[in-house]
Amino acid sequence: MTFSRSLLIASILFSFAARTAGAAPDPRVEAAVSDLVARMTLEEKVGQMCQYVGIEHLKEAAKRKGKVASNNDAIGMYPQMTFAQLEEKVRRGEVGSFLHVVTAAEANRLQELARESRLQIPLIIGIDAIHGNALVRGATVYPAPIGLAATFDDALVERLSRETARETRAHGAQWAFSPNLDVARDARWGRVGETFGEDPLLVGRLGVAMVRGLQAPTAAPEDRVLACIKHALAGSQPVNGLNGAPTDLSERTLRSVFLPPYFAAIRAGAGSLMTAHNELNGVPCHANPWLIEEVLRGEGGFAGFVVSDWMDVQRLATVHFVAADLKETAYQTLLGGMDMNMHGPGFFQRVVELVREGRVPEARIDQSVRRILRAKFELGLFDRPLVDEAHAEQVTFSPAHQATALEAARKSIVLLKNDAGTLPLDPVRSRRILVTGPLADTHAILGDWVLPQPEDQVTTPLEGIRQAAPAGVEVSFFDCGRSAQRVEPSAITAAAAAAATADLTVVVVGDNELRYEENDKTGGENVDRSDIELPGNQLALVQALVAAGKPVVVVLVNGRPLGSEWTVERCAALIEAFQPGSLGGQALGEILFGVVNPSGRLPITIPRHAGQIQVHYNHMPSQYFHKYVLTSSDPLFWFGHGLSYTSFRYSNLRLPARIGPGESVPVTVDITNTGPRAGEELVLMYVRDLVSSATTPVKALKDYQRVALASGERKTVELRIAHDQLALIGANLKPVIEPGMFQVFVGDQTEKFELVAP
Ligand code: BGC
Repeated sequence: MTFSRSLLIASILFSFAARTAGAAPDPRVEAAVSDLVARMTLEEKVGQMCQYVGIEHLKEAAKRKGKVASNNDAIGMYPQMTFAQLEEKVRRGEVGSFLHVVTAAEANRLQELARESRLQIPLIIGIDAIHGNALVRGATVYPAPIGLAATFDDALVERLSRETARETRAHGAQWAFSPNLDVARDARWGRVGETFGEDPLLVGRLGVAMVRGLQAPTAAPEDRVLACIKHALAGSQPVNGLNGAPTDLSERTLRSVFLPPYFAAIRAGAGSLMTAHNELNGVPCHANPWLIEEVLRGEGGFAGFVVSDWMDVQRLATVHFVAADLKETAYQTLLGGMDMNMHGPGFFQRVVELVREGRVPEARIDQSVRRILRAKFELGLFDRPLVDEAHAEQVTFSPAHQATALEAARKSIVLLKNDAGTLPLDPVRSRRILVTGPLADTHAILGDWVLPQPEDQVTTPLEGIRQAAPAGVEVSFFDCGRSAQRVEPSAITAAAAAAATADLTVVVVGDNELRYEENDKTGGENVDRSDIELPGNQLALVQALVAAGKPVVVVLVNGRPLGSEWTVERCAALIEAFQPGSLGGQALGEILFGVVNPSGRLPITIPRHAGQIQVHYNHMPSQYFHKYVLTSSDPLFWFGHGLSYTSFRYSNLRLPARIGPGESVPVTVDITNTGPRAGEELVLMYVRDLVSSATTPVKALKDYQRVALASGERKTVELRIAHDQLALIGANLKPVIEPGMFQVFVGDQTEKFELVAP
């Protein structure tokens, strides 16, 4: 194709909007894709299926290892290729995508190289923008997904995902590897912070909100990105809590718990999907036609493209040993429905050979290429592959985005315990406040998938407490080091001495998931634990502070749940801050001093210790028929727990006596703020199927809503139950709606209703 023909197609396509769920493919896009595919060589086609790590990132990695990274050096990560050869591959049209490109300048440079190729097909650039585009310096960092889940606020999550899309696109990436739809049920797994927690409905609803926000079908192309739902499937429940270890789960559990969020996000139009590192019931997800072709595409209707996870195609031979050699890995993954290989040059050659040898029909390649090109057209990439670097500056960390990040942080923080009204802090009783703890003045509040952010864009807990402290309150800081893994014993002794002279201590402890602090990490990707107590010797610090005799407020900064039984019993107040993002310290300070009333709720149960794992609120009725001896069978806190500085009374639960086929009925309840302050209550509605042919959970969340109430105010809240939400996976593993009695629970109110058969 000549340059002018390419531009002609581009301008025709300029106005394409993103496709929403179930919408028929746009015939103009289909025609453009067909036209292009018909003119592509096999190498150009296979090139579209290859994603490489950004060249600057590769050079940085080489430099860190002491290797000079000139263009003629071999790429450390891809030893068989030099930087110059990789650039040449882009010019030849043999690269479809990059990841880890973190500046607009580099994104533009790579796109310029692609423009030199014969067909000028733009690159799609992917990035892990999972709570803001936080691998980019200067981005707005929103609370980590587990904190977002604690807000139970779909509209807020959609809004901040729109903002994330804008910041991401402005920096030259058009594809966010998000949302993470893993249902998290194992606190040892270091990636819990990337998830929306343990409840399938909540994970699905927030996943849908994120897909909508990122893909924003009605927005201009330069304001939207492609979402990527991940990781299919169930890597969040590995047999031993270790990332990438085997998952062994019944098809019933997969269909009842792990698949529903995917089906919901697919219905919302999710345009891409990433397979999971793990094997699933003996078959690696990267070579699993049942999962990808039959279930997600066939049953779920997924129409986008599938990308592998990092290095996982080759791991079919090197880790899982289901393939005898690397060529076989490419073959198996193509059969398994893979469209793009995230990482590694060998894939290109192997796939070309497989086609030339006749083992893989070229039509199979065309299928993947069409899916990828379709996404590129729909993103408007053919028209505007380049971005304006000045615009990127303006969009990023704008006042509006900061306001959203602050709102999200305020709503995400959960008050777990508050003895005798310790909080909000009383400026008279707590005039001299000591702040300490290894995470009190660090960026650990940003969580995982973040690269270093400018100091002046992050409010640490200490800074937030200082800002919010009323006049007359003296805040002092004892710096006991900034390591989550080790607090020096001498620092513990000195911190306790300082606590003894203060009126109250606020100690900030927990996990460090900052990926650039490799030597101190205690959580995050590939950082899993066999124990869920406070890491290192942080418990000893808390114990010494409590022994100093003054009230201790413990603030937890973490992604995965921390089961610190001693801390819960002995602290005066406990706050679960999760990883509240750029303005997290401000939100925390405001909550401690009562400027903001806490309203977050736990999206995941906090076990007492690792031995309780597989404790989740929606367990089967027989799970606690017998109890543990010597220790409690109850977790520290159940899903949904969260306190407020005011109190709410529930009354007058009303719903129809029967729900018939196709119906979606209102369930109303009155909520009164019976306390002294304004506050937001999170109304959670659970349902139990009283008798079913296969076992069903003791209760399952069916709807939720936030309501803001002034002191003394009463409002009626309307929630909804739909007939088809009451299906269960029947004996034949198919969804079935069984007539009979159900029970609904909202706060302390409960009622029964009858489900009428379809
Ligand atoms: C993670 C993915 C991520 C990818 C790219 C992998 O190791 O599992 O979630 O999107 O890396 O950074």
